Amino acid sequence: ESAFRRSGSRSGHLLHRSFASAATPERRVAILGAAGGIGQPLSLLMKLNPLVTHLSLYDIAGTPGVAADVSHINTLAEVKGFAAEQQLGQALEGADIVIIPAGVPRKPGMTRDDLFNINAGIVKSLCTAIAKYCPNAIVNMISNPVNSTVPIASEVFKKAGTYDEKKLFGVTTLDVVRAKTFYAGKAKVPVAEVNVPVVGGHAGITILPLFSQATPATNALGDEEIHALTKRTQDGGTEVVEAKAGKGSATLSMAYAGAIFADACLKGLNGVPDIVECSFVQSTVTELPFFASKVRLGKNGVEEVLGLGPLSEYEKRGLEALKPELMSSIEKGIKFAKAN
Ligand code: NAD
Ligand code: LMR
Repeated sequence: ESAFRRSGSRSGHLLHRSFASAATPERRVAILGAAGGIGQPLSLLMKLNPLVTHLSLYDIAGTPGVAADVSHINTLAEVKGFAAEQQLGQALEGADIVIIPAGVPRKPGMTRDDLFNINAGIVKSLCTAIAKYCPNAIVNMISNPVNSTVPIASEVFKKAGTYDEKKLFGVTTLDVVRAKTFYAGKAKVPVAEVNVPVVGGHAGITILPLFSQATPATNALGDEEIHALTKRTQDGGTEVVEAKAGKGSATLSMAYAGAIFADACLKGLNGVPDIVECSFVQSTVTELPFFASKVRLGKNGVEEVLGLGPLSEYEKRGLEALKPELMSSIEKGIKFAKAN
């Protein structure tokens, strides 16, 4: 079966033809939780991605409207909406990438772990369906607490016999997006040029931005400013939760971050070289079984989990401090999946 589609008109002018006839692989992306606060703008952004040929939008309610709306945009991706559990299989069939922003968000005063009781079950049932209907898909896990939902997914896939550690990603891109924005503002460098790795996990002190490796480098920032930038990055989610005052957590910036990460996965699948993003993956970078660090993406998902690089003394302390919390969140997820 040919997974390739030829773009461009065959009868076109020779010059145009040679330019436009590059083979573009078909790529199917499914979004689970597509009618939610993240799901809707993420659906929009994935519809705008020229690498997506089929976009499958699933939620327990509201997807017919979102799918009809997004489908009118005159870009390549063919959009289909699926609502209610009996359509989940259809929604997943043939997916290359499944993005999961399904689940409840925080309200002021809550930690991400407070979402565990509801979201663990949602993630478990969605991953059970992924194992059945698209066992080879790359999974981009957005649902919180990411430090636990990724281990839950791994256990569900292991039980089903479909686990491939190269294809399971906790989406931590929003931490990188925030670190870049905050650093650019303080260091007074052009934000579009900034790179900052963020490692560890995705909650509070488990989020460890490595500003010592930020580029463009600057010596304009002293220790106090670096510590403040670190804290702001770690508390970025809470900043939004409080500003939304009960109406949920980050949705627009998360949709942007989710779209960036899914695009990187698509490029990796399509064989584009040197695609590197931070993500929470199965890892041997530290003694923890899952850890976020830079990852090189390729045709099979993770091509290489990159090491941490040189850390400042402050970052070394941050790394040691985050390990107990991150380990206990990982263990909580594994225990839940094994018991249920
Ligand atoms: P939301 O409540 O606006 O939307 C969630 C959607 O999930 C709803 O449309 C709901 O119907 C749907 N849903 C619930 N159960 C489902 C199921 N079984 N199958 C399919 N869909 C289901 O919430 P939101 O603001 O979009 O946030 C979603 C999740 O993303 C939350 O857990 C939030 O904490 C998390 N989040 C993660 C990051 C990150 O950086 N990884 C950033 C922001 C938010
Ligand atoms: C975020 O970082 O914005 C998300 O994890 C949502 C939250 O609860 O903070």
